[in-house]
Amino acid sequence: MKILVTGAAGFVGNNTVRRLVQRGKPVRAMVRNVEKAKKRLEDIVDEIELVEGDVTDRISLKPLMKDVAAVIHLVAIALEKGGRTYEEVNYQGTVNVVDAAREAGVDRFIYMSQNGADSAMPYRFLKSKGNAQDYVAGNMQNWTALRPSAIFGPQDEFFNSIARLVKLTPVIYPLIGGGKAEFQPVSVNDVAEAIVRSLDDETTIGKALDLGGPEILNLGEIERRVIKALDSHRILFPAPTWLLRGPVIFMEKTLPGSPVSTSLLDLLAVPNIVKDNALVNQFGMQPIPFDGEHISYLKNNTVGVAVRTIFKGDIVN
Ligand SMILES: NC(=O)c1ccc[n+]([C@@H]2O[C@H](COP(=O)([O-])OP(=O)(O)OC[C@H]3O[C@@H](n4cnc5c(N)ncnc54)[C@H](OP(=O)(O)O)[C@@H]3O)[C@@H](O)[C@H]2O)c1
Repeated sequence: MKILVTGAAGFVGNNTVRRLVQRGKPVRAMVRNVEKAKKRLEDIVDEIELVEGDVTDRISLKPLMKDVAAVIHLVAIALEKGGRTYEEVNYQGTVNVVDAAREAGVDRFIYMSQNGADSAMPYRFLKSKGNAQDYVAGNMQNWTALRPSAIFGPQDEFFNSIARLVKLTPVIYPLIGGGKAEFQPVSVNDVAEAIVRSLDDETTIGKALDLGGPEILNLGEIERRVIKALDSHRILFPAPTWLLRGPVIFMEKTLPGSPVSTSLLDLLAVPNIVKDNALVNQFGMQPIPFDGEHISYLKNNTVGVAVRTIFKGDIVN
């Protein structure tokens, strides 16, 4: 029996698949484009079954559930691009995966939710993830939801985007929203470990588990650590979100790889910190800090990488 991982070539996905392979688990890795995914999963491609599927296409999911013992559902979008919406991919996509799993008699379901996800939220992204989590909890018997704060690691979007913007703004850098928004950055290694441990840990069944790093950091402190990791210096000036809204709308409309969107700007109003950290309290782990060698990967963001990613929309890591 296999473990089906959706979003397997994504940031969290490829780290999770690697960890499952290391533990000797048989993996069916679902991706949207096999050829593209082969590049990211090159080193383990012979050790997994790579299959194509789209969560918005119910028919594509049915054959993928054959001989599956557990589903790890990671697919979601944080930016709406190419006409795809949060409701279609994050909510309806999850409904489709759950329905297909249930029809095939899949026993175990791990859903990658999000800290702050809540069906009552006014923010469409968090609402779509909250509705999806509710659907999983209401329709699968043996479910676990994991709710991480912002995740860092070599292929992350959020912290690498800050680094790329630093590279393109000499001398000064905006303290976005005054730098007050709070996060608890959590390492992708810790998140992948929590996913893999959840699979076989029956005490996680029926639980929504918050995952965070060891420190609560405001955005100003995060920006300072990113700038330090780049061995750079910038004068930080407070830029309220209302002032940034215009430039962000412009970037969203004109840049193929816009690192921000107005809906993500809205999310700065919601504290992204966890009260009960399951990494410590459920799994007994010591979370990795967002600091020093753990964020040295940010140095890969040269000016060239920043230009190619933001202005051409290339994926470079
Ligand atoms: N990154 C964070 O800081 C963070 C924090 C908390 C929670 N999470 C959650 O963690 C999960 C994984 O996020 P991530 O950061 O790894 O994102 P990611 O790198 O963008 O991975 C998501 C994957 O989903 C795939 N995908 C998108 N639409 C699809 C569709 N319609 N059908 C099938 N596959 C589709 C993407 O494939 P393509 O590359 O082909 O588009 C991508 O490989 C998400 O549920 C996210 O909400 C992430």
